[in-house]
Amino acid sequence: MASLVINGGRRLNGSLVAQGSKNSALPILAATYLVNGKSIIHNCPRLSDVECTIKILENLGCKTERRGTDLIVDSTSASGHEIPESLMREMRSSVVFLGAILGRAKKAKISTPGGCEIGLRPIDLHLFAMRKLGVEIEESYGKLLCTIPQNLKGTKITLTFPSVGATENAVLLASVARGTTTIINAAREPEIIDLCNFLNKCGAKISGAGESVIVIEGVEKLEATEHSVICDRIAAATYLFAGAITGGDIALKNTVPQHLNSILPVLEETGCEISIKCNEIRLKAPLKLRRIDKLITQPYPGFPTDAQAPIMTLTAIAEGTSVIVENIFESRFKHVPELLRMGAKIRTEGRVAVIDGVKRLYGASVVSPDLRGGSALVLAGLVAHGTTEVGSLKHIDRGYENFENNLCMLNADIIRME
Ligand code: EPZ
Repeated sequence: MASLVINGGRRLNGSLVAQGSKNSALPILAATYLVNGKSIIHNCPRLSDVECTIKILENLGCKTERRGTDLIVDSTSASGHEIPESLMREMRSSVVFLGAILGRAKKAKISTPGGCEIGLRPIDLHLFAMRKLGVEIEESYGKLLCTIPQNLKGTKITLTFPSVGATENAVLLASVARGTTTIINAAREPEIIDLCNFLNKCGAKISGAGESVIVIEGVEKLEATEHSVICDRIAAATYLFAGAITGGDIALKNTVPQHLNSILPVLEETGCEISIKCNEIRLKAPLKLRRIDKLITQPYPGFPTDAQAPIMTLTAIAEGTSVIVENIFESRFKHVPELLRMGAKIRTEGRVAVIDGVKRLYGASVVSPDLRGGSALVLAGLVAHGTTEVGSLKHIDRGYENFENNLCMLNADIIRME
C-alpha cells in the first residue's frame, strides 16, 4: 500500500499551474457518449476517477486515446447501455452516465451506486428527473433497468435540492428530448456551466447554466467537438491552503478566480494576503493564522463542501476557536479523528465542528478516510513537527493530479513510498 511521507515545517513558495477540474471532466466525458463522433477534451486531468470513466466509455463501445493532457473519445460506433457493477462501485459518481446512456441508447442498465465514505449519496433526485422526462425505471436487486417506452418529452423539473449530479443528468437527457425542459432549483456550480458550454458547442440549446433555472430546447442530434475543461477550483483551493498553513507565499496559474469567490475571503479572514492578476491567484500567508469565526458549507456560490476538510486543518493551528458547519453531506468529518491523533483539538456534534487552535501539530501515521479528508491530513503533515505518514492514497489519487510532486515543487518535503 502506497503512502505519503511528509517532514513538516517547510514554508511553501513558488508557482504552480492548477489542474483541470475532476468534477467538470467527469460529466463532460459522460457527454462524449451522448454526442456523436470524435470529441477532443483538453486539460483533462490524469486521475483514477478519469481512468475509471475511460473504462466505462470503452465498455459502452467508445474508442479513447490519451495525448498528454488531451483525451480523445470517439463514440461513432458505440451503442452500449450498461455499466458493470464493478465500475459503478469503483466510482459512485458514474451515475452521471445515466442521462447520457439513455439519451443515446434509449435504455440503460446500471447498479445503484451505493454510498461512499462521505454519506449515503442517494440518487432519488436523479431518478425523479429521469422519470419526469419519460423514462421508466425498474429497481430490482440493486439494479436499475431503465427504458423509454414513448419518446422523451421536455417537461418542468423542480429539484427539491440543487443536486449537482441530478442537474447534470437532467441536462444531458433533456438536451435530446423533444420540446422544452425547464429545470428549477438547478445546481449553479461552475462545473454545470462547463458541461452546458460543451453541449452547446455540440449543438445543444441550453440557456441559464449557472443560474437556478436552466432551460433546454431538445435537439435531434449532437455532434462531437473539442473543449477545454475548466480549472479545478477545489484542487486550486487545496494548494492555496497549503501555502496558508505553512506561512508561505505561492502563486497559482491557469485558475478562474471568480470560482473561488466564496473561498478567498475566508483565507483573508485568517490573515492571508490574496492578490489576483488575470488567471493567477497569489497568496501570502501571515506568520500565525487567525481563526475562522464561523464557516458554513452550502451549494454554489456558497462555501464548497469539498473545501471543508482541508480548510479545517488551517483552523487546527489558527489562533482562537473556529466553528465549521457541514450542511451538504452527513458524514464529512471522518478526517477529524486522524487530526486528533496529530494533536488537534476538535469537538464535533452532528454537522458542527468546534476547533480550538493549538500551537502545533505532531507528525503521526494517519489514514485518508476519503478524498478531501486525505488532502486535509497531507496539509497537517506539511506543518506538523516531525514526520507524518498518510496511508490509503487511493482516495487522494482520485482527485489530485501529481499531488506530492506539485507540493515538492512548492518546496514541501514529501515523498510517495510504495
Ligand atoms: C458532486 O457530487 C461532486 N462530485 C462532489 O464532489 C461535491 O461534493 C458535490 O457535488 C456537492 O458540490 C462530482 O461532481 C463528481 P449532490 P454529487 O448531488 O453530484 C443529496 C469531491 O470531493 N442528494 O449535489 O453527488 C446528497 O446526499 C466530490 O470531488 C440527494 O439527497 O452531489 C448530498 O447530501 C465529493 N438525492 C447533497 O444532495 C440525490 O438524488 C449534495 O449532493 C442526489 C443528491
